[in-house]
Amino acid sequence: MDPVLSITVVSVVLGALIAIIFFKSYFTKRRSEIKSIAKTELEPDHQKKPTKPSQPISKKSHSKPHSHSHGDKDQNKRHHPLDVNTLKGHGDSVTGLCFSSDGKCLATACADGVIRVHKLDDASSKSFKFLRINLPPGGPPTAVAFADNATSIVVATHNLSGCSLYMYGEEKAISTNEGKQQSKLPGPEIKWEHHKVHDKRAILTLFGASATYGTADGSTIIASCSEGTDISIWHGKTGKLLGNVDTNQLKNNMAAISPNGRFLAAAAFTADVKVWEIVYSKDGLVKAVTSVMQLKGHKSAVTWLCFAPNSEQIITASKDGTLRVWNINVRYHLDEDPKTLKVLPIPLLDSNGATLQYDRLSLSSDGKILAATHGSTLQWLSVETGKVLDTAEKAHEGEITCMAWAPKTIPMGNQQVSVLATSSVDKKVKLWLAPSLESS
Ligand SMILES: *[C@@H]1O[C@H](CO)[C@@H](O)[C@H](O)[C@H]1NC(C)=O
Ligand SMILES: *[C@@H]1O[C@H](CO)[C@@H](O)[C@H](O)[C@H]1NC(C)=O
Repeated sequence: MDPVLSITVVSVVLGALIAIIFFKSYFTKRRSEIKSIAKTELEPDHQKKPTKPSQPISKKSHSKPHSHSHGDKDQNKRHHPLDVNTLKGHGDSVTGLCFSSDGKCLATACADGVIRVHKLDDASSKSFKFLRINLPPGGPPTAVAFADNATSIVVATHNLSGCSLYMYGEEKAISTNEGKQQSKLPGPEIKWEHHKVHDKRAILTLFGASATYGTADGSTIIASCSEGTDISIWHGKTGKLLGNVDTNQLKNNMAAISPNGRFLAAAAFTADVKVWEIVYSKDGLVKAVTSVMQLKGHKSAVTWLCFAPNSEQIITASKDGTLRVWNINVRYHLDEDPKTLKVLPIPLLDSNGATLQYDRLSLSSDGKILAATHGSTLQWLSVETGKVLDTAEKAHEGEITCMAWAPKTIPMGNQQVSVLATSSVDKKVKLWLAPSLESS
């Protein structure tokens, strides 16, 4: 063989070998590069696709509803000088509200299926922190009441098959990150629940009181008033049914327990108001609920009533166009009847001069100012004189559904103020300052 040729052959073979080795390593490198690119592309895709729609939403639902600010729009809309704040962020009609006994928390029931427990650190705050309790499916909430202090809350919900009561108490272990800032508020854990508590009827009102009268042990008892004629009394903490009464008055409007837990009174379709005594045994438990008095004097249905802070008087509003103040501190066991202390005309007239009815009443914690509503109108009266202290027409852009005074003053800047809260079908909760008693 020609030595030159053999060298050429060897070099060609070697070159080919080198080329093969080079290209092989090049392609495997490329392939692994492609693979790794594909990997990095795939992985985030994997995570992104399911999380992309949910992450921003869940972020929003965690951070946004925890505080709501009111923009300039609201500032312009605020037309009434006593209107001090609006709690927004409710997704539907607000059906009920309730203050904790220290006045620091305001719980709201909303038809969007959420209970919100707002912390009222300052009445004029731009936003309020709140705890969100998502109710189980099975009907929107119709009323809410604190079961003890601010750590437990009772909710009534309603659907076609009946109404349920749920008590939410503090979670034992805080597992989520949000738990940290909410550790002072009740956790969303159901402690007890009852279903079909008033057969198929809805619960109109829930009223709670800390039972301190006589031998009562201070626990919170709660009255649930059905749209029928029945009323039930519950032990807030345990959910034990303590008693049932029937008004036998065609249809209930509402029922309330006196602040000391001694009396239960109901406003119903007929003019007389029935009052029961909740009798406690020596061990502090409820022994009986007995009918003790009737408030006779109104000529038409009683739409609402409220107890005075000392539990010795009741104020009633009737479709007969009057308010009555009753003294129930009587020896009823000697057949002494409750006395009417005052009859006050309802000072709210329609355009034809006819007296309108009050739908709801709430008495300030000092017992001096009566707040009353008719539709979307809010009015404040002096209990002493019956005079109108102030009126907010169109207090809400829809019917007012619930109203309550904070049981204690709450901070506003450097002051302590009395505050009334109202809720409405307009998806809002408003806070109002108390009018001056001298302005009458
Ligand atoms: C009503 O609520 C109860 C209790 O949450 C539930 O079990 C039931 O399925 C609900 N019924 C309807 C018709 O939604
Ligand atoms: C609230 O009530 C619970 C149970 O009744 C009790 O353990 C807790 O100490 C109370 N908290 C306050 C702040 O009073």
